[in-house]
Amino acid sequence: MLTINSQLKEVYAHPIGRDLLKKVLFQKALSERIITNPLVSRLKLKTLPVLTMGAVDRAFLEAFLQVLNEAPDRPRPVEKGPVQAAWWKEAVFYQVYPRSFKDSNGDGIGDLCGIIEKLDYLKSLGVDAIWLSPIYDSPNDDNGYDIRDYHKIMTEFGTMEDFDRLLAEVHARGMKLIMDLVVNHTSDEHEWFQRALTEPHSKYGDYYLFRDEPNNWTSIFGGSAWKYCPERKQYVLHLFSQKQIDLNWENPELRREIVAMIRWWLEKGVDGFRLDVINFISKRAGLPDGNEKIGKMMGLYGAEHYFYGPRLHEYLRQIRKEAFAPYNAFTVGETPGIGMEMAKLLTAAYREELDLIFSFDHLETPGHGKFDDYRYDLNYYKEYIIYWLENYGNQCWMSLFFENHDNPRMVSKIDPDPQFRFVLAKLLATMLLTLPGTPFIYQGQELGMINKDFQSMADLRDVESLNFYEIWRKEMGDAAAFRRILAGSRDHARTPMQWEKAKYAGFSTVEPWIGTDEDYKICNVEDQMKREDSVLNYYRKLIQLRKSHPVLVYGETAFVNRKVRDLFTYYRRDEQAVFYVECNLCRNQLKRRGRRPEGLRLLSNYPENEGHELRPYEATVWRLK
Ligand code: NOJ
Repeated sequence: MLTINSQLKEVYAHPIGRDLLKKVLFQKALSERIITNPLVSRLKLKTLPVLTMGAVDRAFLEAFLQVLNEAPDRPRPVEKGPVQAAWWKEAVFYQVYPRSFKDSNGDGIGDLCGIIEKLDYLKSLGVDAIWLSPIYDSPNDDNGYDIRDYHKIMTEFGTMEDFDRLLAEVHARGMKLIMDLVVNHTSDEHEWFQRALTEPHSKYGDYYLFRDEPNNWTSIFGGSAWKYCPERKQYVLHLFSQKQIDLNWENPELRREIVAMIRWWLEKGVDGFRLDVINFISKRAGLPDGNEKIGKMMGLYGAEHYFYGPRLHEYLRQIRKEAFAPYNAFTVGETPGIGMEMAKLLTAAYREELDLIFSFDHLETPGHGKFDDYRYDLNYYKEYIIYWLENYGNQCWMSLFFENHDNPRMVSKIDPDPQFRFVLAKLLATMLLTLPGTPFIYQGQELGMINKDFQSMADLRDVESLNFYEIWRKEMGDAAAFRRILAGSRDHARTPMQWEKAKYAGFSTVEPWIGTDEDYKICNVEDQMKREDSVLNYYRKLIQLRKSHPVLVYGETAFVNRKVRDLFTYYRRDEQAVFYVECNLCRNQLKRRGRRPEGLRLLSNYPENEGHELRPYEATVWRLK
């Protein structure tokens, strides 16, 4: 048991303690060495309020210790060596955001038949598994992440027959399909919630988290996390929008319903799930107030009571045992805020919880948040990858991704200068497909799509952007608030897929639900299919390379030039082959260290480069043996 008499090094030795300390340092853009330094590491926690001049106070320490003391599990010491093979370690995943992928019936909204039309495209790209963002019946307050009926398809997307056909067509092409599973919350229009309001004494009455008085938790989409329900004269918890109401996982009956629903989809033959904000499902009993200092630091109050809740592992094991395992289903958990030690507890094979998680620590550089307008430094990505790959162990496996429907486009974040757009997109592709881990490509990434040219708030649709704009314009004025929204809006990734150089980008025959800009004229599938040196063809070749050389999946990885800034180089090797990957992480010419590699230059984002200089964002894959 840790107390305020414990030393910092004891906190650091606790898996959750280590992750949380790293998180705090990350927020403040400070180095980990501050803590591992022997003088500091011996400090007792109780000295911190004075030493930090009040930045850390007694209440902060108590909140912190509570999280640690309620998390007794320890990951096993890390083992190196061979990993157990699995289809999902070898597969290349592709995320489809159905609303914006392909409209087949001319209503301006993408749909299931549209996805079916494009399955051959995905197959020809080399995709093995498709992850579909939610397609269930929903009032669309958060584009389907607010589910009204888990057993129905959203009318705009089609029918259950369309879904069955989609699944059959995916399987007929030898691909797999995973669904989005949103079970931290439902829509307020879900029957369970409606009945919880009107029949408070029925079993549904306890399916959500009602309280007579709200606590101080805030919503991830801004404002209080509580909404008043006059029907019950009570408040109900919603960590996301006011129409996304958190489920009460403490209730065993509710958990049984969720298990039954998952099995219903697995019976249909789906191959697995991506589990939406799954680390939020267990909330600390009594829902105590969030700590002030933590709330201020994170811009979110209460998170310490649910981002890694006391019963999380128990719940995950239950749904694995009762729903996923009998069908051999694959799971990837979306787990915001989770650090590496917690990730081990969630994904190590011996724990039998999840197969993979999406951790997000690589999407911003230290000291930055999603809405900050700054240039992402790929040197941080290098550092992050080396740290994870060397410490995650052979019982765990990484998911690799740069983009999804919740973030702006990565190329824009690194370097918005259009002259580098396509080489940079290829550099990202190279790392994604030659590092060990399961790659996830987000629709449009394979074309090098970039952030959109939104002109005003009227162009945006996302509830997160709209809510924060209202909050920030009061704090900083309209123009500054819009700039922040432009830096971080999820809508950048949600505009229509650019299929052709035709009106509405070939996505639809009518005006889409969210606008396209002019970019489709220079960046679209049709043109890129024809151009040998396009980003699309580069992705194809890389995926083929990965498929024909198991060394790129399971081979050992050795990083070289670790301390050299802007240069990211590594070997992948096994008994059959040795590959060498060389990446220039910046927009300047870079001197190559040592001799030019001797071997076969398999793929590069530049045409032949005989010189000793690496060009801006150059990426090359060599075969040495
Ligand atoms: C994470 C999803 O990826 C995001 O799009 C959604 O808004 C929240 N979870 C709430 O479901």
